[in-house]
Amino acid sequence: MRFSSQLLLFGQLLVNVPLALSLKVDADSADSLKSAAQTAAASAVNFYNNRDPSVRNIPGQFYNTWWEGGAFFTFLINYWHWTGDDQYNDIVNKGMLWQKGDSNDFDPSNASLYMGNDDQEFWALAAATAIEQKFPDVPNNPSWLSLAQGAFNDFVDRWNQDKAECGGGLRWQVNSIQGSGYNSKNAISNGNFFQLAARLARYTNNDSYTIWANTVYDWTLSVPLLDNKTWFLNDSIQISQDCGAPSPQQWSYNYGSYIAGLAYMYNITNGGAKYKTGIDGLMTQLFKTFFPEQFGGNTLSEVSCEPYHDCNRDQIIYKGLITNWLSLVSQLAPYTLGEIEPKLKASAEAAGTQCSGPNNECGIVWHNATWDGSSGIEQEMAALSAFANTLVLYQSAQSGSYTPPNKPAPVTSNTGGNSTSDPSGGQSRGGEQSLPTPKKVNAGDRAGAAILTIVFTTAWIGMMVWVAYGEFGF
Ligand SMILES: *[C@@H]1O[C@H](CO)[C@@H](O)[C@H](O)[C@H]1NC(C)=O
Ligand SMILES: *[C@@H]1O[C@H](CO)[C@@H](O)[C@H](O)[C@H]1NC(C)=O
Ligand SMILES: *[C@@H]1O[C@H](CO)[C@@H](O)[C@H](O)[C@H]1NC(C)=O
Ligand SMILES: *[C@@H]1O[C@H](CO)[C@@H](O)[C@H](O)[C@H]1NC(C)=O
Ligand SMILES: *[C@@H]1O[C@H](CO)[C@@H](O)[C@H](O)[C@H]1NC(C)=O
Ligand SMILES: *[C@@H]1O[C@H](CO)[C@@H](O)[C@H](O)[C@H]1NC(C)=O
Ligand SMILES: *[C@@H]1O[C@H](CO)[C@@H](O)[C@H](O)[C@H]1NC(C)=O
Repeated sequence: MRFSSQLLLFGQLLVNVPLALSLKVDADSADSLKSAAQTAAASAVNFYNNRDPSVRNIPGQFYNTWWEGGAFFTFLINYWHWTGDDQYNDIVNKGMLWQKGDSNDFDPSNASLYMGNDDQEFWALAAATAIEQKFPDVPNNPSWLSLAQGAFNDFVDRWNQDKAECGGGLRWQVNSIQGSGYNSKNAISNGNFFQLAARLARYTNNDSYTIWANTVYDWTLSVPLLDNKTWFLNDSIQISQDCGAPSPQQWSYNYGSYIAGLAYMYNITNGGAKYKTGIDGLMTQLFKTFFPEQFGGNTLSEVSCEPYHDCNRDQIIYKGLITNWLSLVSQLAPYTLGEIEPKLKASAEAAGTQCSGPNNECGIVWHNATWDGSSGIEQEMAALSAFANTLVLYQSAQSGSYTPPNKPAPVTSNTGGNSTSDPSGGQSRGGEQSLPTPKKVNAGDRAGAAILTIVFTTAWIGMMVWVAYGEFGF
């Protein structure tokens, strides 16, 4: 993800737009949620099909950002799972397989140079979603499970236990040309690795993954990222500053990623106290911070950017990640359902009122009943996830004319999952990757896009290399 990309937003207030009705979501009705999910999915896919011409023909590639595809496909798989509507499944298959990389680990060469561990992890988590929700493998292609395992193996190889490297932990960025991002170890890169390990552990019942999940979680507590008394989770630490200088910025997805990982561990260990303590502590912080009392206490708000109208494209999606993860947590640690239910319901209804732009396009700020004038695929993705994942509340109960999909909680290889395992997957392995031959970029191709060109010298090649940051920026 990018450091600071205050692109878009609020500049897009359209003039002479016909007044549109909101989606009027009634979260007590599965029918209503399903129909809102249909509308948001159609709108998200419409944005996807009409994305910037420079990437429109590259399945899974979003304009100027790569990780978002992982989140997009996660939500489309959730949508299929909860509604049974399979009309977008081909888009998912095509995009995920196109971006799987030559080594079958979601490290495709176009993205590799500017890739963060978190970026690659969001694709691996999409594959984890596929296996758990029985989204079918595509014959004659690598299985979803093998792709998640391939990515997992890359993260293992990038883990460095040297004292000077914080005794473990994944860096944010994979390659040293990423400067400050390479110098940082951050919550989301490690939270997602923890979560991926826990999900693979539960699905495959292979202890190696369990051990890794514990390693990542315990490491997080050993550095100034996570405090197990206050459960305050920092955003990042700096390697060059003795693994200190924690950045206390509060982002919902940092909490959500760890909570979800803990819920899988809780489930595997049949209620392990270590994980329950973590779920309860982090969930209390998540609820207190990101479901502000002033908006009723149950509506999700990305509080570090929404009040300032400067959420970037990444940050707009976090609310979608949270609703996806809370839905999982409510299934894997069912004792949380009572607390999670009102949050999912109120957030889905609030998102519905915000989706009152032209053609029911959604804005960013859910707690405000007036459409905020912004639109984009990120807004649609967040709302889609809220609508679709709230259907978890109707997993088995008949409601109105809605026939529940009667889908089980995330399956494992012992309870109906049949994605093919390949624990040795992934070959790009290793830490920093060798620099690919830089591509010459024609700025004219991207008129209007803000491009930051970074010039760097690689001493060992002894020549100047030019790379345009932004074409596949993250
Ligand atoms: C890599 O970029 C090229 C040029 O834009 C494109 O044709 C190709 O489909 C991309 N590959 C992937 C895996 O995204
Ligand atoms: C809190 O974390 C520290 C550091 O990892 C650990 O030693 C301690 O046992 C933990 N406390 C509890 C109550 O889990
Ligand atoms: C998180 O950062 C804040 C502010 O920099 C710091 O006071 C706190 O101790 C940090 N948390 C942990 C667990 O070290
Ligand atoms: C683990 O998840 C399953 C599926 O939702 C659930 O039935 C079970 O109660 C969970 N285990 C615990 C200890 O909560
Ligand atoms: C709600 O949104 C409208 C339109 O963007 C804005 O004028 C108003 O100030 C917002 N209200 C709050 C409480 O944020
Ligand atoms: C997995 O199960 C599905 C049905 O749920 C079936 O269509 C598919 O062929 C199976 N795949 C494998 C690899 O056995
Ligand atoms: C379990 O996972 C580890 C780590 O990926 C792998 O080396 C091992 O072969 C796996 N074992 C089985 C039985 O799949």
